[in-house]
Amino acid sequence: MATTDAPMQIDTDAQTFRYYRHAVEKHWDPHDIDLDADREALGELDDAAFEGLKRALALFGAGEDAVAEDLAPLAVTLDDFEDQLFITTQLYEEAKHSDFFDRYWREVIHAAEDDRGQEHSSPADERWFSDEYDELFERNEAAMATLLDADTPENRAKSYSHYHMTVEGILAQTGYYGLTRQFDEDTYPDLPHLPGLVSGLTYIRSDEGRHVGFGMAKLKELIQTERVQPAVIEETVGDLLPLVQAAIPSYERAGDEGVTPTELTDYATNKHEQRMQQITVASESIPDVEELTSLAD
Ligand SMILES: [Fe+2]
Ligand SMILES: [Fe+2]
Repeated sequence: MATTDAPMQIDTDAQTFRYYRHAVEKHWDPHDIDLDADREALGELDDAAFEGLKRALALFGAGEDAVAEDLAPLAVTLDDFEDQLFITTQLYEEAKHSDFFDRYWREVIHAAEDDRGQEHSSPADERWFSDEYDELFERNEAAMATLLDADTPENRAKSYSHYHMTVEGILAQTGYYGLTRQFDEDTYPDLPHLPGLVSGLTYIRSDEGRHVGFGMAKLKELIQTERVQPAVIEETVGDLLPLVQAAIPSYERAGDEGVTPTELTDYATNKHEQRMQQITVASESIPDVEELTSLAD
């Protein structure tokens, strides 16, 4: 990037500007992903496993719809220009994530239902969702909406703790990790492979890494400037964890083979502990954007 002495609008060294640029450079289109092989492979799933996959997709799709809608208050309240640039990419990406799940249901699930001689199902059907799942997203929406009434450091910390640390950082990242492993080519040779789903999830997980990194960076800033105590984050996330745990183990397992609930709970716990450490310990830093978005676990 060319240097200049004249005052400019954008601080190109700001971490959130780098997140914004990374999002632009990693652009992808959910309608470019080839879903033909998935349609074919779904014929190999027995009815219970097919139902399990639909439940997982309904939960992720509804989750993406909810976070896409609930992010707007933050876009209104953020004051740094570089943060505002970043949040436009997050709003756009959450919209693309919803679009991907909607397309998958229309083009893959409905086609597979036709092959089975079943009626078309709806991803919005209430039977997919537990009370805990609904409550978790209701609380997230409320925490975000509070910013419009009282934009205080504590309310910001609570909204990042709900949205970025818990819903994206624990629920979504753990669920996506499990679902990717379940249907990836090499993990379980006897389960059908869904390459289109895995490809979409891979892009989504990479985007989510950046979103979680942004939330962590904002929380670290609030703590380092002593505007909030780390206990606010611990308590907010701690209150939500039972709801997250009630939602996680039930999605992934289809039959005897595949990712186990314990494996997912361990993954979630380790990720959370590592992040809290990076936020609250002054000498630790938030991983850089390449590391946040890499999928090596
Ligand atoms: Fe998302
Ligand atoms: Fe996200």
